[in-house]
Parts: sequence; C-alpha cells; structure tokens
Amino acid sequence: MTGTLFEWNDSFLIGIEELDHEHKVLIDDINKLHEELIGNEKKSELTKCLGEIYVHMQAHFALEEHVMKKHEYEFFDEHKREHEEFLESFTECMMQFLNGAEISSKNPIEECLKQWVVDHITTSDKKMALMVQAKVA
Ligand SMILES: [Fe+2]
Ligand SMILES: [Fe+2]
Repeated sequence: MTGTLFEWNDSFLIGIEELDHEHKVLIDDINKLHEELIGNEKKSELTKCLGEIYVHMQAHFALEEHVMKKHEYEFFDEHKREHEEFLESFTECMMQFLNGAEISSKNPIEECLKQWVVDHITTSDKKMALMVQAKVA
C-alpha cells in the first residue's frame, strides 16, 4: 500500500503562484499524516503532524484572505466563512483525537481534510482565483 492519500496533479492548480505553492505544502502535510496513520506512528508524532497542518492551514487562509481583500473579491465573506467552518471541524476532530479517540486510516480527520482539498481548492479557491485574475488582467 502506498502512503499517498493525494497525488498532486495540475487540476489542483488555481493559477496564483504563492497560493498554489501553499496548497502543495498542505497536500504534502496531509500525505505525511496519512503515512503516519497507516504506519501506526506514536500518538506524539501524530499530534505533532496535526499541529503542523493546523498552523500551515491557518497561515494559508490568512494569506488567501489578504489576497481576496486586496482585490476586493465580492464573495469574500462567504469564502472566509468556509475557511472558518473548516478550521472549526478540523479542530473538533483534532480534539477528539487528543482526548483519546482512536484514529485509523479511515477516520474523520482524513475525511475532513479530503473534503477541504477536493471541494474547497477545486471549487471555491478556483472560482476566487479566476475572478481575481480577471481583475488584474
Ligand atoms: Fe486555499
Ligand atoms: Fe480558500
């Protein structure tokens, strides 16, 4: 079994270089978590990995929100709300894990992350990037 949950492919690209770079880093983080999950790593390793994802995710959302504000993106509020909701559900999954819930390769954390990668990047982030780029052009 391979340790990769998400194979990076160009369909994830949104066309804004700095954000694409961060998406790549985040997908790497998620794959690392997945590898540790199937490798049954120690809880301390998993906790560290989850913490890294959380920090990168938060920084990424802040940068993306800055880009949206700068370009007066009209769906800013709705997009920011998606970020907040995501961070909330990720935090909840993380807390359950830290409070002793079992974590396995089929767990809510991965489902939650998958949803973010598949749904948010490929729909909301892409839509935002297209509108922002149209303004710049
Ligand atoms: Fe993003
Ligand atoms: Fe976003």
